[in-house]
Amino acid sequence: MRIAILGGTGDFGRGLAVRLVSLREDEVVIGSRDAARAQQAATELGAAAGAANDEAVRGADLAVLAVKAEGALETARATGAALGETPLLCVASALSFAKDGVRPDPEGRSLAERVQDLVAAPVAAGLHSIAASNLGVDAPDEDAFVCGDDARAKELALELAAKLVAGRALDAGPLASARTLEGMTAVIVNLNRRYRGHAGIRITGLP
Ligand SMILES: NC(=O)c1ccc[n+]([C@@H]2O[C@H](COP(=O)([O-])OP(=O)(O)OC[C@H]3O[C@@H](n4cnc5c(N)ncnc54)[C@H](OP(=O)(O)O)[C@@H]3O)[C@@H](O)[C@H]2O)c1
Repeated sequence: MRIAILGGTGDFGRGLAVRLVSLREDEVVIGSRDAARAQQAATELGAAAGAANDEAVRGADLAVLAVKAEGALETARATGAALGETPLLCVASALSFAKDGVRPDPEGRSLAERVQDLVAAPVAAGLHSIAASNLGVDAPDEDAFVCGDDARAKELALELAAKLVAGRALDAGPLASARTLEGMTAVIVNLNRRYRGHAGIRITGLP
């Protein structure tokens, strides 16, 4: 499939691109607010193309919203028309960083639900428990979680997630589950800080 990574110039987007390019199964397009920056990153990463975010999504089967969380809503607003009905996977978690730890967004609704309010495209959410530093040529020993209300968007997001981890890509339910999944990024960052490691999550007890 053709996968557009909005904010593909950042840590998470680059990690995602490195993994996907190494598998040679999909066409990866890097998106950025700046077309030249996107093209430069695409060249460095061996991606098919780089373009401004709203250009990057054209012709994509799946777009990944991997911009800094503070820019997620604005980017969704700005690319909504170009996205049309293209499924959008939101990986963003709004976090606040402090010396004593990282805290999830106190807002009741998830960023992914708020993104869905802004675009006609069906939104799925996921990959929040995968640290950018764990994304690379080798698949990390962890599971990946995806949620969403739209069956097609969730199916594509799960297909992508399965390519990223050595564990399983798991369907975590409706888009409202993003409220919990987004908080997982805070948990992972706190664990990594406390134990100086590269934490990932594995679920037990499933057939
Ligand atoms: N890092 C992780 O381990 C991790 C794990 C799970 C989920 N996530 C989520 O993945 C997303 C990206 O994380 P990251 O660590 O890769 O972030 P990042 O490197 O700080 O930023 C990613 C990209 O976002 C774009 N950006 C920055 N500010 C923006 C704004 N105000 N509006 C629109 N675009 C903006 C930039 O691209 P251009 O300047 O080229 O436009 C930047 O390269 C976040 O939402 C985060 O919650 C991250």
